[in-house]
Amino acid sequence: MRLLQLCRLPILGIGLLILMAIGFTIQLLGTHFQKRPPQTFTVLHPLSSLSTRTCQPKSHIVFLKTHKTAGSTILNMLHRYGDRNSLTFALPQKYQFNYPNLFHVRRVKGYNEVNKSTYDILCHHMRFNLPEVRKLMPTDSFYFTILRDPATLAESSFSYYRLVSSAFKKSPNFKAFIVHPSHYYKPGERSNHYAHNLLWFDLGFNPDTPFKESLAKAGARAVEGAFHLVLLSEYFDESMVLLKEELCWDLDDVVTFKLNTREASTPLEKREIDRLRAWNALDWYLYVYFNHTFWEKVERFGRERMDTEVRRLRERRHQLAEICLEGLNPVRADQIKEEGIKPFQFGQDKILGWAVKKDLEPKTRARCVQMVTPELQYKDILDLRQFPQGVRGSEPGPAETSGKLLKS
Ligand SMILES: *[C@@H]1O[C@H](CO)[C@@H](O)[C@H](O)[C@H]1NC(C)=O
Ligand SMILES: *[C@@H]1O[C@H](CO)[C@@H](O)[C@H](O)[C@H]1NC(C)=O
Repeated sequence: MRLLQLCRLPILGIGLLILMAIGFTIQLLGTHFQKRPPQTFTVLHPLSSLSTRTCQPKSHIVFLKTHKTAGSTILNMLHRYGDRNSLTFALPQKYQFNYPNLFHVRRVKGYNEVNKSTYDILCHHMRFNLPEVRKLMPTDSFYFTILRDPATLAESSFSYYRLVSSAFKKSPNFKAFIVHPSHYYKPGERSNHYAHNLLWFDLGFNPDTPFKESLAKAGARAVEGAFHLVLLSEYFDESMVLLKEELCWDLDDVVTFKLNTREASTPLEKREIDRLRAWNALDWYLYVYFNHTFWEKVERFGRERMDTEVRRLRERRHQLAEICLEGLNPVRADQIKEEGIKPFQFGQDKILGWAVKKDLEPKTRARCVQMVTPELQYKDILDLRQFPQGVRGSEPGPAETSGKLLKS
């Protein structure tokens, strides 16, 4: 009897051990399977065209970052590309080139008239001024910019610059502004460029010139002459495909997560859209003009090819989101613990950002973080790299001193 009991104990023990081993294995396998396939960029890097490439990737780039047009997302792409390839940025003293004044080379940090530095990328907020930009940038630079339907642009601008622009400030709300913009708007009043033909203004023209088709057409032609490519926010992915083609870049170079998005936007009625387009008639003319040239380019590129490329881009974005991000939707700033990737808050609505997974292999995490680093923080990183001791350039103007405030 005792012998039997003695015998049973070890059997029980072994049984328990086996059970524990099985449990442990299941757990191990479980966590193993939970982890998605190799969490690195390189392994997943699809169809790198390096071997088949017949073009030379472009690295001399001028991007006119217009306001409220997804420019922050494009800036991230340019920052990343320049960062990875050790390119030199023409940087502002603070965060913008003395906007809303016209761009001038003396606003470039460290610029020296005598010993001309050479720059690869110029992309921070400015009011465009072609002769000055040409003085600064290599002659073979690729120029591009991005436009948006002035109706939705106005909605975004109102939300963001509500307390900055005098016209917006005077209006009780956006609906009232739409009904009678000229009632609140006086040319030249504080930051009123945000309230009237903002694209036209950013491109360096006078937004208060009364609309005439001949004038609008001359403006559009001038833009066409200065820029190799004009993108559209509404067709962001198609835009990225065209850009990738023109720059001869890889797919991963143009994959982005939307940055600087708002939590909510006000939907517009048809009549309101029409009113806003009429109020911003110069911008609307530009938009229709470049919508036309955009789809001509898509036609030349090939519709089917475009569809395929857009699908690849979206798949890759989704893949990278799963590798990098906590959740597939952007989150509020207070849910992002790292200062380096917190979005700058400005305007009436919450500006969203992305949280990056913690448990990533360091190299992968670094690339994920790059992809969601907002423009202000990324500019600081690049600035520190280019000016490790800090450089006293020309005097910053008053608008630049408050550049961080009027960031976007
Ligand atoms: C230009 O560069 C040379 C060589 O680096 C330097 O000796 C000279 O002082 C510079 N001149 C100016 C005006 O910065
Ligand atoms: C833009 O072009 C497309 C394709 O030609 C057309 O369907 C669309 O109506 C155009 N949009 C505007 C705002 O002109």
